[in-house]
Amino acid sequence: MVIRDMIDTDIETVYWIEQETFSDPWSKEDFQTSSKDKNNHYLVVEMDNNVIAYCGYWGIAGEGYIYNVAVKEEYRKQKIGYLMLQELIARGRSQGIKTFTLEVRCSNEAAIRLYKRLGFVNAGVRKDFYTRPKEDALIMWLDPIQ
Ligand SMILES: CC(C)(COP(=O)(O)OP(=O)(O)OC[C@H]1O[C@@H](n2cnc3c(N)ncnc32)[C@H](O)[C@@H]1OP(=O)(O)O)[C@@H](O)C(=O)NCCC(=O)NCCS
Repeated sequence: MVIRDMIDTDIETVYWIEQETFSDPWSKEDFQTSSKDKNNHYLVVEMDNNVIAYCGYWGIAGEGYIYNVAVKEEYRKQKIGYLMLQELIARGRSQGIKTFTLEVRCSNEAAIRLYKRLGFVNAGVRKDFYTRPKEDALIMWLDPIQ
């Protein structure tokens, strides 16, 4: 397993994982535009020469906003999400990010457990944040001392 920076040629596969994972997926153009923004940092996980997971953060003024976290279904529950985010956070810290935050659907037990395992704590709820289906978001933060 290799965890590395996302490059332009990964976007096609990342886009397909995004389509099969989320009810309101990003388009290819969203990923292309986002990856050109110097405040965005994306990682992918490669296994047997295939991209099987990705994540990213948008960092500014010492804060990193994590988004687009996904592991291809058949590779889940093997610690890949954990190791990938651990690497993203370590890289963010080395680039001056002190705290990380994210939003997650209140019903997304797998993701909430993953984030708690990484040290994130609950910090509030954004009412009706998600559509398709409509749902509240749990806001989570990673304390800088962890
Ligand atoms: C959430 C997701 C990224 C987790 O990736 P993963 O590689 O399967 O997670 P890991 O194997 O690293 O597991 C990390 C922790 O989450 C727990 N976990 C993972 N899947 C779980 C599930 N379906 N139910 C309950 N807990 C789960 C693991 O047990 C582990 O916790 P533990 O160390 O306390 O046992 C993956 O399920 C996914 O891509 N889901 C769809 C996209 C998504 O929801 N993204 C997040 C949007 S905010």
